[in-house]
Amino acid sequence: MTDLTSLEAQLTAAVTGAIDLAALDAVRVAALGKTGSISNLLKSLGAMSPDERKTAGPAINGLRDKIQGLIAERKAVLEGQALEGKLAAERLDLTLPAPPRRKGQVHPTMQAFDELICIFAELGFAVAEGPDIEDDFHNFTALNFPPKHPARDMHDTFFLQEGPDGTRKVLRTHTSPVQVRTMMSQSPPIRIVAPGRTYRKDSDQTHTPMFHQIEGLVIDRDTHMGHLKWTLETVLARYFETDAVTTRFRPHHFPFTEPSAEMDVGCDRSGGGLKIGQGSDWLEILGCGMVHPNVLRNCGLDPDEWQGFAFGFGVDRLAMLKYGVPDLRDMFAADTRWLQHYGFSAFAAPNPASGLS
Ligand code: DAH
Repeated sequence: MTDLTSLEAQLTAAVTGAIDLAALDAVRVAALGKTGSISNLLKSLGAMSPDERKTAGPAINGLRDKIQGLIAERKAVLEGQALEGKLAAERLDLTLPAPPRRKGQVHPTMQAFDELICIFAELGFAVAEGPDIEDDFHNFTALNFPPKHPARDMHDTFFLQEGPDGTRKVLRTHTSPVQVRTMMSQSPPIRIVAPGRTYRKDSDQTHTPMFHQIEGLVIDRDTHMGHLKWTLETVLARYFETDAVTTRFRPHHFPFTEPSAEMDVGCDRSGGGLKIGQGSDWLEILGCGMVHPNVLRNCGLDPDEWQGFAFGFGVDRLAMLKYGVPDLRDMFAADTRWLQHYGFSAFAAPNPASGLS
């Protein structure tokens, strides 16, 4: 019996001292496994006399039950501890401060818009706006695009679903429809610029399906092409921040102007880069001309009384030229790292007093 008492003390100590589930299992095998200490005692019952068995049997079985109970208890405690440990190890500390947020930046195109609007404002131009979803009349017909004329296809137009009246609206292919809206809603003299988004089914290295334009319109009694050239030269010199900007007109065709021209700016392409205001190369940057008499008539103005000029240019490209952005597609990739590099502080908005960029 003393043997059993000391075995019980020893096993109890081993069970309560098991530091983890593996250690506890080792104790269980040593006591209750096939050749464990208690199992061996149980086996010895067979060789005992009935009298001996009467007392030894309940004592050994009692010890086995007791140790089994202790092991189960210890196991529950250790399992609880293991779970606690796992939870603690896998804990997500939600109280950690969030990583610093990237500061918002003004996109170069928007910066160029702001700068150009600022320059035009100094010259007395107001800002006019029109809808991105236009009808055929404002986008084409009023601008003297003949019906079914290939010039309409030239713009790779996005057409919307046919409406209940059988007509199809378009995503405006240029900002020129704002000319029409302005002439139809205001009386001359008119001096406006219309910045905005424009859309064409076009996508390659130098074209994106959505891009940005600024349209300009001046209507007065004796406005002529000299005014147009001076205005554009002045704006470009201010925008590129150098008086060395040179320009030239090339004859061109637009349905809504007569005569029409494209304006090139002098540039230098040597050495891989492109520099405005130096060199002997030319870069086409805008379309312009004298507003066609038909357009004036379509907008309710008498061409014998009023005349004026109009122009339109792509703003994304002007932004790329000024800020050295090499690939147009990056301008639309919505990559915050790119914007961090090329973007502008929202607190440094261009204005006539503090300057441009
Ligand atoms: N709307 C033309 C375009 O998107 C640009 C343009 C050319 C606008 C001549 C004008 C203009 O007002 O007179 O290609």
